[in-house]
Amino acid sequence: MLFQSFVSFVFFVDLKNTRAMALVVFEQSLNLEAPFPMSKPRILVTRAVFPDVLERLAPYFDIESNQEDCIYTEEELREKLRDKDGVFTTPSERVSAATIAACPQLRAICNMAVGYNNIDLDAASQAGIMVTNTPDVLNETTADFGWALLMATARRVTESEHWLRAGKWEKWRYDSFLGADVHGSTLGIIGMGRIGQAIARRSTGFNMQVLYHNRSRLSEDLERAANNARYASKEDLLRQSDHVILVLPYSAATHHTITAAELALMKPSATLVNIARGGIVDDAALIDALRTGRIAAAGLDVFENEPRFHPGFLSLSNVVLTPHIASASEPTRRGMANTAANNLIAALTGGRPANLLNPKVKPKA
Ligand code: DGY
Repeated sequence: MLFQSFVSFVFFVDLKNTRAMALVVFEQSLNLEAPFPMSKPRILVTRAVFPDVLERLAPYFDIESNQEDCIYTEEELREKLRDKDGVFTTPSERVSAATIAACPQLRAICNMAVGYNNIDLDAASQAGIMVTNTPDVLNETTADFGWALLMATARRVTESEHWLRAGKWEKWRYDSFLGADVHGSTLGIIGMGRIGQAIARRSTGFNMQVLYHNRSRLSEDLERAANNARYASKEDLLRQSDHVILVLPYSAATHHTITAAELALMKPSATLVNIARGGIVDDAALIDALRTGRIAAAGLDVFENEPRFHPGFLSLSNVVLTPHIASASEPTRRGMANTAANNLIAALTGGRPANLLNPKVKPKA
């Protein structure tokens, strides 16, 4: 009885936090033995996010958010995480082993991205921290964008637009901005996960041959669904493809998958698209290949050291450059943010997040 009156009192005075307290009251009314939670788990949201996503998190957590969108140094991030139970991250924050070691309270790292090379997964697992990502929700949007870059690169869309905007268009010419055909050509996909397969499926309408290279070969059913994609060694794929697209995850093993040696195998008429991660391509070698005509053109959404990418790209007309936006459609970025939020809520309220990257982790009590 005494407990019930205390609950009513708290419920009455905490008008700002009505939803959260209502939830606590409801849960406590089910189990009067449970200790009354004096405070909610504390989380950091490292970058600006959709305001309604913060509102969804608010009933569950004490939130330190960063709607000013400052970029924290690793030391600043570490300081902010020292007293946090969970963190909502984006690909631009590095959560290193040193940061993990310095934050013993941390129980969950939920990344708003399918890629998670910014997080030291081994260190997190050893420390009993759950790590999650946002797969699937972005597959189709990212595949669409891979195609947008491929088409823009092969057909010189941005280069010709810049020329037009510069007032240089005086007459139609038979040889203006001659590009490469996409239809009927051979598409090479390096990294045949869910996004790679979605890209391959789209190639049926262009009547293309698809080659792919991947850590492991797909089942026959999946190959058939991916426009009858044929498995090839990386070298054969590079030699035979007219358009190569990179969709593989970044790790120490995939660092510089494309260097001068790989570019030398490609057809001089070929194009290269990178929607995977900076670091998969040796950007200096690519700049050299584009400058010397070793390959025809490239379309890049990701860069080594982004957002401070190699300035050599800016002086080249045969490269299409975009600022890491492959997943950036309104519904998909919202979907990613909500998926990361759901994972964080599950992880810190005793549930199992849907997208747990370290399922064998023994979560901290
Ligand atoms: C991802 O999900 O990994 C994307 O690169 C983020 O936009």
